[in-house]
Amino acid sequence: MIRRNRILRNTPAIRAMVAETILTPADFIAPLFVTEGKGVKEEIASMPGYYRHSLDLMAKEVKELWQLGIRSVLLFIKCADELKDNKGTEALNPDGLMQRAIKTAKEAAPGMVVMTDVALDPYSSFGHDGIVEGEEIVNDATVNVLAEMSVSHARAGADIVAPSDMMDGRILAIREALEDNNFTKTGIMAYSAKYASCFYGPFRDALDSAPGFGDKKTYQMDYANAREALKETLMDVEEGADIVMVKPAMAYLDIIRLIKDSVTVPVSAYHVSGEYAMIKAAAKMGWLNEEKAVLESLTSIKRAGADLIATYFAKDAVHLLNQ
Ligand code: PBG
Repeated sequence: MIRRNRILRNTPAIRAMVAETILTPADFIAPLFVTEGKGVKEEIASMPGYYRHSLDLMAKEVKELWQLGIRSVLLFIKCADELKDNKGTEALNPDGLMQRAIKTAKEAAPGMVVMTDVALDPYSSFGHDGIVEGEEIVNDATVNVLAEMSVSHARAGADIVAPSDMMDGRILAIREALEDNNFTKTGIMAYSAKYASCFYGPFRDALDSAPGFGDKKTYQMDYANAREALKETLMDVEEGADIVMVKPAMAYLDIIRLIKDSVTVPVSAYHVSGEYAMIKAAAKMGWLNEEKAVLESLTSIKRAGADLIATYFAKDAVHLLNQ
């Protein structure tokens, strides 16, 4: 034998020396769920250990994340039922919960990259990402609102807007609207390859945003397709996306790799609520070691090509990396 591959696996030290993929806190984007009130910290039933926070407690959370070395948060808000309609009116409210959350996060940690979810579902009486006419989610009217919404977030201080809606043409419309309003430093992280996935279930519990009728298959992608992900992503880059995203992550590692090899912008991946819930559930049953499952999952997502990972395990992962 002239080649013994096990030599490079022999001790922890040598394994550390040859490790190709190393997670660091700056890889993570921490999603945060924000709700109205004061001193509110509500656990999400299908996401044990994850919470909706009122603004005051969110500010504490943002400070803690910053101190841990996490450099980005992605904000989602839970909109009160009485403010929901079919036009996204509340999404444009300059004093809405999202707009206040952006300001609060920037005040809590001025260096933090504050990203915001741009889509109508939390604000929609139908729970859809766009404006509904009959049974249809109409594209172009929705895109106009998303562009206005992005400008409103930029005005409140968002660093990066993250459209998660999968309407056609929205990246260009958002970039143009930002330019027209002189927000030349606001970036766009496009959910470019977002699949119609069952793994978003717990998130919809968190925001009470499940679609009231039908599903999201006329706008989110069919999980049977890979080349379509490339088509979507290349168009988003053409239209001005600064970062592109694949979502979910673990069942789509092939898509992450395909996109990483095809674009020159940073690639992010969203390790979604259902992926979090699966690990939590198996760990609770004693069937999986949670800490090992978390690090293996996140390392695999990075190895597949993700430069950034949005994950509900962001804080836990930093603690594990520091051990
Ligand atoms: C909605 C949105 C969803 C998620 C992020 N933004 C849900 C959906 O498309 O129904 C899912 C995130 C997760 O499951 O963690 N625009």
